[in-house]
Amino acid sequence: MITQRRIEITSPTFIDAWQLPAGQDLNALFSSRQPLALEVGCGIGDFIIQRAAQQPEVNFLAIDIYNKGCYKTCRRIDDSGLTNIRVMRMEARYLLNRFGQPDMLSAVYINCPDPWPKKRHRDRRLVNTTFLTQLLYYLKPAGDLYFVTDVLDYAEQVAEIIQPLSGYANQLATPYVLQLDGYPLSKYMRRFLSQDLPVHFQHHQRRCDFTLDPQELPVTEKGFRNRHNLDSELWPT
Ligand SMILES: C[S@@+](CC[C@H](N)C(=O)[O-])C[C@H]1O[C@@H](n2cnc3c(N)ncnc32)[C@H](O)[C@@H]1O
Repeated sequence: MITQRRIEITSPTFIDAWQLPAGQDLNALFSSRQPLALEVGCGIGDFIIQRAAQQPEVNFLAIDIYNKGCYKTCRRIDDSGLTNIRVMRMEARYLLNRFGQPDMLSAVYINCPDPWPKKRHRDRRLVNTTFLTQLLYYLKPAGDLYFVTDVLDYAEQVAEIIQPLSGYANQLATPYVLQLDGYPLSKYMRRFLSQDLPVHFQHHQRRCDFTLDPQELPVTEKGFRNRHNLDSELWPT
C-alpha cells in the first residue's frame, strides 16, 4: 500500500498515462516524430536530461513508479528547456503491456535498477529472462539495450541469461565494462563511483535478422510489488 502523499504533477512534460487509451501510440505524445527511446526507472532524471541533450533527434520516454522522482524529473526537464522528453509514472511491465507495439523502441535504458541484493530476493529483480524476451519484441531491429548496475552479481546474472537469447548481440568485447565512453552518469552511478565502487555497463542490440512471433511473447509478470498489491494504483486490474 502506498502511504506517501502523492505530489500533483502539473508539468507539460508529464503524461498522465491513465488518461491514455490502451494501445496509444506513445510517439504521438511528442511534438515531432522521431525514434523513441525508453528509460526504465528514471529516478530524479539525471541520466535522461543528459542523454536527451546529447541526442535531440530522439524522443525519450522516462518512466518511474516513484511519484516524487517523476515530479523532480519533470521540474528539471522544464528548467532545461528540452522538448524531447516525456515522463510517465508507470511500472515498466505494465507500460509495455498497455502501450507496447512491436519495433517501437530505438533504445531501452535500465540504469541501476532496484538491486535486491539478498539471494532469496533475486526473483524480485526486474531484469530477468521474461523481461529481456519481451524487450526483444518492442525493440526495433538494431535497437539498443543498455543495462547498468553497481551490483556485480546482477551484472553477472543478466550477462548469463542474455547470452542464450539469440535475439541479442553483445556490443562490447566482454560481458560488461566498468566504463562506457559518452554514457551519461545517473545519480546512483555517480554515488557509487564517488565511493570508488564499480559500476557495470552492458550494451546489447537486437539482431537485425531476429523476429519474435507474438505467440512466443511471454506472459507479463506482475513483479514482486504488484503480486503483493503494494502498488495497486500502478497495476489496476
Ligand atoms: C535505485 S533507483 C535508480 C534511479 C536512477 N535510474 C539512477 O540510476 O539514479 C531505481 C529506480 O527505479 C524505479 N523502479 C523500480 N522498479 C520499477 C519498475 N518496475 N518500473 C518503473 N520504475 C521502477 C524506482 O522507483 C527507482 O526510482
